[in-house]
Amino acid sequence: SVFSAVTIGTDMLELDCHITKDEQVVVSHDANLKRSTGVNVNVSDLKYCELPPYLCKLDVPFQRACKCEGTDTRIPLLKEVFEAFPETPINIDIKVNNNVLIQKVRLCLRRSERVTLTVCAEMRYSNSDIPILFSLQRVLLILGLFFTGLLPFVPIREQFFEIPMPSIILKLKEPHIISKGHKFLIWLSDTLLMRKALFDHLTARGIQVYIWVLNEEHEYKRAFDLGATGVMTDYPTKLKEFLNNMSA
Ligand SMILES: *[C@@H]1O[C@H](CO)[C@@H](O)[C@H](O)[C@H]1NC(C)=O
Repeated sequence: SVFSAVTIGTDMLELDCHITKDEQVVVSHDANLKRSTGVNVNVSDLKYCELPPYLCKLDVPFQRACKCEGTDTRIPLLKEVFEAFPETPINIDIKVNNNVLIQKVRLCLRRSERVTLTVCAEMRYSNSDIPILFSLQRVLLILGLFFTGLLPFVPIREQFFEIPMPSIILKLKEPHIISKGHKFLIWLSDTLLMRKALFDHLTARGIQVYIWVLNEEHEYKRAFDLGATGVMTDYPTKLKEFLNNMSA
C-alpha cells in the first residue's frame, strides 16, 4: 500500500488520484475499484465514506501476484498522504481529464505547502514552483542530443528523468506472442535508453533519474549499476532488502 511504500524509506512516491462523488481526492491506481477492493464500483460514483476497503491481495500490472504490506485497508485521501509524508517527494499522476480533480489537487498542494516536492502530469508546465518531469518528446530530444554529443551544451529545466526499462515489456506477455519485429524494437529502445553515460551526465547536473516499474532483483541491480537515482517498484520491502544487501 501507499503507506508501507514510505515507511521503509522509498525515495519517491508515485500516486494516482481520483475524485469521489463528494469531491474528495483519494489515492487509487484505478478509477474502478474492482481490482483493489473486489467491488465493481467507480470512485466517482461513491461518497468517500461509502468507499469499500482494500482487499489484502492486490494484482499489480508488472508482477502476477502481490501480497499487500501493512494493515490499514482504507483508501487514503491525498491530503492524508501529504500529512503523513511531509518530506517525501511525491509524483502525482492525473490520468483522467477532470477539471474539478485538477483544481482539488492544486488546492491540496497549496495547503500542504509542499509544491516544491510534488510533480503532476497536468501541471508540468503550468507552475514554475513544481519540479517538472520529462515528457516523452523531451526524453526523445534528450536522447537525440545525447547521441549527437550536444547534450552538455543544452540547458535542462526538468528535475526528474523518469523512464521505463523497456526490457520489462517482455515479461508482460507470453514470449511466443511477441513478434520478432516487436522484440527488436524493445531491444533497440532498451539499448538506447539504458545508458550509464546518459544517467551519469544527468545526475551530475542535479537531475534525478528514476526507472520504472522494476520488481526483480536483477532489474534493481541493473538500474543501480547504470547509476539510476532510484527505481519505482510494486514491492518496496523487496527493494529495501536489496538495498540493504547492497550496502552490507
Ligand atoms: C465506471 O465508469 C466507466 C467509464 O465512465 C463506465 O464505462 C463504467 O460502466 C462504470 N462502472 C460502473 C460499475 O459504474
